[in-house]
Amino acid sequence: MNVDGKHYRTVWFEDIGKPMVKIINQTKLPYAFEIENLDAVESVVSAIKNMHVRGAGCIGVTAAYGMCLAANQSNGDFTKFESLAQKIKGARPTATNLSWAVKRQLELVKKNIDEDWLSLTVGEALKISDEDSQWCKQIGDHGKNILLDIAKSKNDGCPVNILTHCNAGWLAFADWGSATSPIYSAHRDGLSVHVWVDETRPLNQGSKLTSWELSNEGVPHTIIADNAAGHLMASGMVDIVITGTDRTTSYGDVANKIGTYLKALAANDNGIPFYVALPSSTFDWEAEEGGRGIPIEKRNSEEVKFISGLDSQGDIKKVSLSLPSANCANYAFDVTPARLVTGLITERGVCSATRAGIEKVFPEKFDN
Ligand code: MRU
Repeated sequence: MNVDGKHYRTVWFEDIGKPMVKIINQTKLPYAFEIENLDAVESVVSAIKNMHVRGAGCIGVTAAYGMCLAANQSNGDFTKFESLAQKIKGARPTATNLSWAVKRQLELVKKNIDEDWLSLTVGEALKISDEDSQWCKQIGDHGKNILLDIAKSKNDGCPVNILTHCNAGWLAFADWGSATSPIYSAHRDGLSVHVWVDETRPLNQGSKLTSWELSNEGVPHTIIADNAAGHLMASGMVDIVITGTDRTTSYGDVANKIGTYLKALAANDNGIPFYVALPSSTFDWEAEEGGRGIPIEKRNSEEVKFISGLDSQGDIKKVSLSLPSANCANYAFDVTPARLVTGLITERGVCSATRAGIEKVFPEKFDN
């Protein structure tokens, strides 16, 4: 994505006398565009935990680059390398991409133990980032056709109204995004679209990040309170819902940002197609049907108790939303059962959210 005319990926690597992972600090957006340097595994873990980088694909790519720092810090000691890998893997539990990227780097080094670990892992991290970007671009090409079909079937002269939740955009991946990619692709082709952006409490990834991204691309959109989606759907103001996912089972059950399940229920009740966009790196091929056993991250309740934003002086401030003594809980993800998902938009095409549908697109994962 371009920011002020310059193309960026969300994460990259530089060796300026010292290996360095560079990230866009997402906690500062939309108010400031700041690049942060991470020079050790510990800072990578902290950046993931504290959401300086977030979104399944983006934390996968950050983890892949974090493994370059692990390679550098372990000085040829494989036990140390494994223990640093464990630290990165443990930074957040729900998104599959994180453990997938760490495992890929570990296996590569194990297979090529006598080679230079830093250059091996840097090459692989770049490959993971390139794949992520390419897959998201392909998701856009496939998903765009769904939007084009909706546009053809509409006779009201209105744009195609898409509702999305959280940020499954460019910032949640290396580039393009999953749920936003069909929107960017259709909009660049001249299709008239409008996006309803759920604000996505408690951290407001929708109002802060998705809205910023859509503004950069010039896509018309409107931020809504999370609870407004049902009303809009019941009033005929939503043509399609597209979300991302942090982990999807091979049966089509989808773990995603808390509140996704409610949107799927409302979409189902109103006969509105509910699509989930994901690259293959977000499938958990081992997960149980129904998503039982998917680890649901429970974050610090302070994120519910407080909200942060820009004050009239232009400073980012945190303010309280409840009595200091109030008891709060912060469940970060939920699971939408496959029966509520109209289809999955993957880099290989669109399929039904069923085991048979997924098998048609990824047959090699179902061998034996
Ligand atoms: O807690 P976050 O902001 O990392 O959660 C992100 C989401 O739930 C996104 O919708 C998700 O990652 C899907 S797109 C990669």
